[in-house]
Amino acid sequence: MTTPFTIAIDGPAAAGKGTLSRRIAEEYGFHHLDTGLTYRATAKALLDAGLPLDDEAVAEAMAHRVDLAGLDRAVLATHEIGEAASKIAVMPAVRRALVEAQRAFSLKEPGTVLDGRDIGTVVCPDAPVKLYVTASAEVRARRRYDEIIHAGGNADHAAIFADVKRRDERDMGRADSPLRPAEDAHLLDTSEMSIEAAFQAAKSIIDAALSRNA
Ligand code: C5P
Repeated sequence: MTTPFTIAIDGPAAAGKGTLSRRIAEEYGFHHLDTGLTYRATAKALLDAGLPLDDEAVAEAMAHRVDLAGLDRAVLATHEIGEAASKIAVMPAVRRALVEAQRAFSLKEPGTVLDGRDIGTVVCPDAPVKLYVTASAEVRARRRYDEIIHAGGNADHAAIFADVKRRDERDMGRADSPLRPAEDAHLLDTSEMSIEAAFQAAKSIIDAALSRNA
């Protein structure tokens, strides 16, 4: 097998790609990087330091200091950090710095799973497996709402739906590396699919690619 073997997973917020990526990484014993966390960590460092979110040189310097080994989902998951992340993610210098670190990660042996918005198109365009995981905005907002309610929190469905739409527009509409499926990506629409069914579909795509690569 040609190693390292990279699996690129893209899609909009709350489509289920995080859960799917973690399961795939576990199944194949591959390293996993949620690249959204790299944008979130950069944004959090700026917020913590009281620095502006609209100064590209300052944000770029922060991006260079992100430690991929220290990314903590629990700390970075807040709504405020997500919003700030999607603002700095429009800056080409920030993207260049983070993409460089993400590419280095993708070379880990024996293989890697990277999930984000531009993995199949920009970060790892030669990945032997590319998945584009999506679901309707209604379904994604409903899942996020249920997650918060389940965790005992308060949620406003209309506000979450508006937020999902706003994030999509920003991610799909930006000039640098907009969210879109790579031409050779397999589309997985999870609107009507359980995470288990999505995992099985992904597994057969990956197994086929691994046997071609053997
Ligand atoms: O996936 P997550 O919600 O953690 O990502 C936060 C933000 O980081 C996204 O809204 C997106 O703007 C940005 N992002 C990106 N490219 C990636 C991953 C995330 O632009 N590969």
